[in-house]
Amino acid sequence: MNAEGKKWLEAKLAAIEALESYAPEKTIASVAKDYGLSPAAIVKLNFNENMYIPRGKIAALLREVAEECDLRLYPQEEEEQLREAIAKYLRLQPEYVAVGNSSDEVMDRVTRLFLGKGDVALTFTPTFSVFRYCVQYNGAEYAAVPLQKDFRLDVEGLRAAFTSKTKLLYLCSPNNPTGNQFASAEIEALIEDFPGLVMIDEAYGEFAEYSVVPLVERYENLVVLRTFSKAFGLAGLRLGYAVANPALARAVNKIPAPYAINVASLTMGRKLLENVGMVQAAVAALKAERGKLISKLNEIRGVEAFDSQANFVLFNTRRSCDAVYVDLLKKGVIIKKLGKLLDYPNCLRATVGLPEMNVKLLNALKESLGEMHEERGSV
Ligand SMILES: Cc1ncc(COP(=O)(O)O)c(C=O)c1O
Repeated sequence: MNAEGKKWLEAKLAAIEALESYAPEKTIASVAKDYGLSPAAIVKLNFNENMYIPRGKIAALLREVAEECDLRLYPQEEEEQLREAIAKYLRLQPEYVAVGNSSDEVMDRVTRLFLGKGDVALTFTPTFSVFRYCVQYNGAEYAAVPLQKDFRLDVEGLRAAFTSKTKLLYLCSPNNPTGNQFASAEIEALIEDFPGLVMIDEAYGEFAEYSVVPLVERYENLVVLRTFSKAFGLAGLRLGYAVANPALARAVNKIPAPYAINVASLTMGRKLLENVGMVQAAVAALKAERGKLISKLNEIRGVEAFDSQANFVLFNTRRSCDAVYVDLLKKGVIIKKLGKLLDYPNCLRATVGLPEMNVKLLNALKESLGEMHEERGSV
């Protein structure tokens, strides 16, 4: 490489190094090692995975996939079959669906296709951080309007930020990390007035009161992101999709490299949709447990837990969240530390686990906050 090339490469690498991306989080193995614990004793409640989908069921379906699919071949009809299955599940036509390697990947694709240098991507804060990273990777500008103190949308604040440069509005609903779902009338008002695309992230849609998916038949500028990682318990296989009117869905489906999504993930998605009753039963069980968990959290002195329409619960603690977080790690409970959010200085987020996992969380929290009374059995 010549001197000019070296200079260019150095500058390029420094710019890439400065880009933000998802920071590595604690894993079961890292916590076991750091605190001398048995991996089997650790409960992982930091990533909003769904433990209500039986692991054995996923393994059995994957064995079927291995038998039925010839993995020596490139994908053939599997993507089309999955789009048809998703469309049936959502009561839409397959033309409204574009599938991807996780909803994060579809989000990245939408930002790459629709945002250019000089464009502004708008959202609110606090919300899911991956959107900010996607925007910054594309050299676009990121702007965020704070939510109201009670986590409702500041519709007027958002409207005031609309300009001829705001080309993408990201609304995560139910929102990660606050857990609330926004009012559909407010969402529709924003879709109608926004001078660009509105991307609504419904990663937690199945745990919520309603879905914005039917709105895609009405609004040409709406794209809804959905995933198999949460309700369907398939986070490890990375499968997500976008729902939008056919012209927009076709655009989102356009990718330069062929066969991006592997046959195993595509076929597993279809098989889970064929077993949607099992998924719905798991979601119902999780939602029942979520209500109990929120009540039990609020019974702990020094904890304020917020209502949730997702598979996680946000709470603020009287004690420093740094101290509480480490106390929990020492007891083998991994949750997500968020710090200050709006008016709440010590925010933490915990996935709704199976009953015995939640008991472990509650006991560890009580100890950390100075309440030693032991919780037994199911919450
Ligand atoms: C709001 C939101 N969107 C998307 C994702 C990731 O979904 P996927 O696994 O499909 O990339 C998450 C995961 O935590 C999330 O919280």
